[in-house]
Amino acid sequence: MTATFYDRLAPYYHLLYGDWEVAITRQGDALSDLLAAQGIAPGAPILDAACGIGTQAIGLARHGYRLTASDISPGAVARLRDELARRDLRACVRVDDLRTLRSVESESMAAVLACDNSLPHLLSDAELLQALRTCHRCLCASGVAIFSVRDYASIARVNPDVRPYGMRHAAGSRFLAVQVWEWDGDQYDLRVYLTTESPTGICTTQVLTSRYYAVSIARLLALLSEAGFVDAQRRDDVLFQPVLLARR
Ligand SMILES: C[S@@+](CC[C@H](N)C(=O)[O-])C[C@H]1O[C@@H](n2cnc3c(N)ncnc32)[C@H](O)[C@@H]1O
Repeated sequence: MTATFYDRLAPYYHLLYGDWEVAITRQGDALSDLLAAQGIAPGAPILDAACGIGTQAIGLARHGYRLTASDISPGAVARLRDELARRDLRACVRVDDLRTLRSVESESMAAVLACDNSLPHLLSDAELLQALRTCHRCLCASGVAIFSVRDYASIARVNPDVRPYGMRHAAGSRFLAVQVWEWDGDQYDLRVYLTTESPTGICTTQVLTSRYYAVSIARLLALLSEAGFVDAQRRDDVLFQPVLLARR
């Protein structure tokens, strides 16, 4: 379900941002500063394990990190390859599952990242713990894990919760994306309505569906400890959403 959702979203994903290029630069700069503050300098091997089309990965490659980027969505991975090639940037890009990371050698990475609320696509504590243990396995001694997530504890559970991304203009067409959340206990179904209006006013709408587990940050911090991480902390001064930082 998750892979299909992001495969279908991949051609449009940049339109969810007011200006995707600005987001790439801002997030790449912020994460590169955070890595440098942890003693991880450009040239170090890092893994973006939920890279999508590359909002963080492109900026980090530009900063000179030795980047491996993986994602469960083949469509997102294919688009990231194109985006890197267009910018003449190098990275090892492939399909892989954050829960197992079968293509990553143990203790090979100075940092593992999964940003913009990727972890809550894993729908139980058991799946989250499996993913965190896997990230721990991939890190070298003193390597760091960096996850950015929504703060679900601060979000009122309204049913349905309708959240517009905004109107964009692309290739002579207007583009409108709206999220609808429908709660079901601690999980919710996410529908993204993507409407494209042609210059002659013809509209086409696609509806893409995924599901999230609204795991709290307190629970994620506890799971990080259970997975073997130390010094797990929440940082609100790095990205547009809370960042969890932990050391192997
Ligand atoms: C909101 S997107 C963020 C993508 C990217 N970090 C960005 O900001 O452009 C969440 C990403 O998590 C990926 N994802 C979800 N479950 C995954 C899993 N089990 N393994 C690897 N990637 C996964 C999705 O395919 C999607 O690309």
